[in-house]
Amino acid sequence: KNVAVILPAAGSGRRFGREENKLFAALAGEPIWIVAARRLRVHPRVSRIVMPVSDQDRPRFEGDFADHVRKLGIELVAGGAERTESVLSGLSHVAEDGSVGLIAIHDAARPLVRRDDLDAVFAKADQTGAAILAAPVTATVKQSLDAGVSCRTVDRSTLWLAQTPQVFALDVLQRAYAKHRGRPATDDAELVTRIGVDVALVQGAPDNLKITHPNDLVVAEAILKTQIESHHA
Ligand code: C5P
Repeated sequence: KNVAVILPAAGSGRRFGREENKLFAALAGEPIWIVAARRLRVHPRVSRIVMPVSDQDRPRFEGDFADHVRKLGIELVAGGAERTESVLSGLSHVAEDGSVGLIAIHDAARPLVRRDDLDAVFAKADQTGAAILAAPVTATVKQSLDAGVSCRTVDRSTLWLAQTPQVFALDVLQRAYAKHRGRPATDDAELVTRIGVDVALVQGAPDNLKITHPNDLVVAEAILKTQIESHHA
């Protein structure tokens, strides 16, 4: 079954501390979004990549980056003010494509996802209709109901950190978005859970970090180096 990828890229640079979209920052000499897009483009099951971008960034993707967009086979669509709206825009764009079996939503801000983890999460979604990459929580987690005056420990043995790709049968994701009534959700798996479909967790490599703060880029460059070394070993 073919996989259509939605690669949301319509965010801003706010937490990253720059004026422009953080995805234009360089990771080993290339913009983050290009590194992310290429990882998906080279996967043999990926048939389409749809990338929601903001109105503000669109001229850059169609100008400076037009060659990259074309070579990577990326279809640009309009993003929205919230990530959920950006994903919906991408979903509407592929809705009529009968050759698509799975939809994989992957943050353009996660450039280091590994090929074997893509294989694993696609295979799980083939079986179940809904699967995401995730990592077990390794820290001691505290909950505070009084803004830090006191706290208690939360049992971490049941806790996972959601990542992307989040991969769904096309009809499952369409039903989830059709039922979405605007109650905020921080990922797509939450919308799918709300329609009563179980979302399976697939444990991925620790490589798959999301670039949020400038420090994350330093870590990402180090991870990229180890990936390249092990690839040639
Ligand atoms: O801000 P954050 O990194 O958590 O956003 C996750 C991904 O969603 C990023 O790749 C960002 O570009 C994208 N996004 C989007 N539309 C928004 C907000 C974020 O496509 N309105």
